[in-house]
Amino acid sequence: MIKTRLTDRLGIRHPIVLGGMSRATAAEVVGAVSGAGGLGILGISSMTPEEIRASCERIRSLTSAPFGLNALLFGVSTEQIDAIFACRPRAIATAWRRPDYDLRAFADRVHASGALHMHQADTLDEAKRAAEAGADVVVAQGTEGGGHVGVMATLPLARMVIRALPNIPVLVAGGIADGAGIAAALVLGADGVLLGTRFLATNEAPLPDGYKRAIVESDGHDTLITEIPDIVSGTVWPGAYARVRRNGFIEEWLGREGELRRRWREVLPQVQAARAAGDADRGTLLMGEDAGLIDSIEPAGALVERLARDAEAILRGRARNLVGG
Ligand SMILES: Cc1cc2nc3c(=O)[nH]c(=O)nc-3n(C[C@H](O)[C@H](O)[C@H](O)COP(=O)(O)O)c2cc1C
Repeated sequence: MIKTRLTDRLGIRHPIVLGGMSRATAAEVVGAVSGAGGLGILGISSMTPEEIRASCERIRSLTSAPFGLNALLFGVSTEQIDAIFACRPRAIATAWRRPDYDLRAFADRVHASGALHMHQADTLDEAKRAAEAGADVVVAQGTEGGGHVGVMATLPLARMVIRALPNIPVLVAGGIADGAGIAAALVLGADGVLLGTRFLATNEAPLPDGYKRAIVESDGHDTLITEIPDIVSGTVWPGAYARVRRNGFIEEWLGREGELRRRWREVLPQVQAARAAGDADRGTLLMGEDAGLIDSIEPAGALVERLARDAEAILRGRARNLVGG
């Protein structure tokens, strides 16, 4: 078994975390990941307080293992935040605060609730500010990742954050989808990894089959970062791009973002209808470059166990052999 400060702090078996991914995850994925010894995190940012409460109940019906809830700080309401605390998760994960957001007050409230505060950062500066605010775990998220990302690649960002914050467990996110990627992150000095895209291609993920198949079919080169998904939903995301698969919808609007800004109210219903119909060419398919490493749709719990086994075998085998046994 792989032992790190993360597995020790949380009492989990594997240093593998399911990133909170809003409507792209559900209680079933979280329950499967936590039940298999990782840490499942549910993204609650588009849920009502009642949905948050019901999801927590469902997760607890699936597993007694620790799990987390995730909030996008720029957009959540007081009622949603209160619902997170009422659920009493073991970890509360945050991301994308506006610069003026008081992260220290939030971290203090997390600690008072007995939970552990995890904050995802796309820059060294944001990682340092999260640590200063009292975050217990910092996630260094590189631009290779799926969903909303910054522009710094995972490898340099992870090393810079790990070097700057030696006393805080750092998780690496963005572009990791197999045991080798996990082993590499641990060798870099990380205490674990946080995976998004890999868990979208699971049986439990509440996504249309077309989306899951698009991940399996992707070679990773067909993703790009763009503001189009946010423009079409009228969202201003603080400082992020969305990494998506290049499809018919994205091709249609690339280079015409100004026009989309004027017409988003007219275009949005078409995108929503495409999403609901599972149309992989006309919806917005958030996924990371690591889609190129994903060959199959698997049960989430078995996936966690396989990834942990593969990472451990690489650390025991190849990593040791490189220095003569
Ligand atoms: C569909 C999708 C939705 C996401 N939603 C959220 C979110 O609500 N909150 C969050 O902190 N991160 C979100 N992320 C980012 C992930 O937490 C994570 O940083 C990223 O997926 C890691 O890169 P990977 O996809 O290469 O594993 C999302 C990612 C994807 C693919």
